[in-house]
Amino acid sequence: MNIAVIGAQWGDEGKGKIVDLLTRHVSVVARYQGGHNAGHTVNVGDAQFILHLLPSGILHPDVRCVIGNGVVVDPDALFAEIDTLAGQGIDVGDRLLISDKAHVILPYHRELEVLAEARRGDRKIGTTSRGIGPSYEDKVARRGIRIADLGDGSEGGPLAAAIRENVSARNRAVGGAEADWRVVHAEARAVWDRLARWVGDASLFLARAMEEGACVLFEGAQGTMLDIDHGTYPFVTSSNGTVGGICTGLGVGPRAIGGVLGIVKAYTTRVGEGPLPTELHGSMGDQLRESGREYGASTGRPRRCGWYDAVVVRYAVRVNGLDAVAVTKLDVLDALDEIPICTGYRYNGELLTEFPSNAAVLAACEPVYETLPGWSSPTAGVRRYEDLPPEARTYLDRIEAVSGVPIAIVSTGADRAETIVVRDGFIDRWRADAGVPVS
Ligand code: IMP
Repeated sequence: MNIAVIGAQWGDEGKGKIVDLLTRHVSVVARYQGGHNAGHTVNVGDAQFILHLLPSGILHPDVRCVIGNGVVVDPDALFAEIDTLAGQGIDVGDRLLISDKAHVILPYHRELEVLAEARRGDRKIGTTSRGIGPSYEDKVARRGIRIADLGDGSEGGPLAAAIRENVSARNRAVGGAEADWRVVHAEARAVWDRLARWVGDASLFLARAMEEGACVLFEGAQGTMLDIDHGTYPFVTSSNGTVGGICTGLGVGPRAIGGVLGIVKAYTTRVGEGPLPTELHGSMGDQLRESGREYGASTGRPRRCGWYDAVVVRYAVRVNGLDAVAVTKLDVLDALDEIPICTGYRYNGELLTEFPSNAAVLAACEPVYETLPGWSSPTAGVRRYEDLPPEARTYLDRIEAVSGVPIAIVSTGADRAETIVVRDGFIDRWRADAGVPVS
């Protein structure tokens, strides 16, 4: 049984750690959307790895990794990441396959994004400025450049024509010093020599690997609430991080997706602009940010912090068909006397229990809380559910009940080896179905 790992909030839920843990039981890890806007952090002993574009499975020497057609690839960022990993003793070698249909991010995408954000003024999205949105815009407008196009070495070929057109659009939009399309073209072509060895048909590779019995982990980036269709539009990223993105972003059928595991933080965070109903503006927000080290893994920006929002998670359960969730960062709540959980929203005097479609409505919603006692004792290092403080168990039981999804894993520390408690049968069933002996 293949497994999908999907962020059930606004990204930064701790997917990197959970993917890394589950990767012990799979032979292929595939990314299906997003780009190097992601920041998946994996701690192994004293070493910390931050993966932006490469699937987190790359840290396991026997695992093959796929970057699907639904991902946008900045070749410079890819090479920088491969080099950084090499410096940390991880050799990508031939374990990587990048879809020949994935679109590329070129320097003008980054420039256009900075310009677009500046023009939006106080309606800005707060993007990561990586050129992600403009690359997807080109894809949908059918003027994008795909990975395989970089292999076109001819002077007057389609790559040159596309770059010429796109750079002249950039020059019209940006003003000031003009970019020279010949320079952009030469740089794009130069990338190919290093990139070519990793480029291929990802859909075919996955089909053959699955035929041969490989177990695949589909690694989502960002989160459900940042999904271009199902997130808090327009304050979203430009791709489908929800489960449907797997089929379109990798060229696999829906039956390839065996189980779907959502990742939720024990509270809520968000980077960038847009509504966040349970946001804490005062010292409590600062306390969560500092104890949770809530600063963006990609941009270093402080994350906005708030209480656990069960309306959000219930919605993520629905749009992704989540079988279970992993709850991360429970230990960040250790010092609190009491902990509110948002169970609904008050909007125009009415109680909403379902997540609204409209960001303006969401922005006007007041969270409705129920408050649980804190446990005021450390949970870091606890490996068994039974050893958690009773109040922490009550908290987990309650978020499980109000979110409408079983909890399969509880993470109480950053390290791979730290405190994973398997409570629900989902992971064991998945391991058994995947042919992995249940330990
Ligand atoms: P973009 O993906 O750079 O276009 O940014 C769009 C929105 O998604 C912004 O609010 C970003 O802060 C947010 N975002 C993008 N990637 C991530 C991520 O990996 N984690 C959390 N937020 C993200």
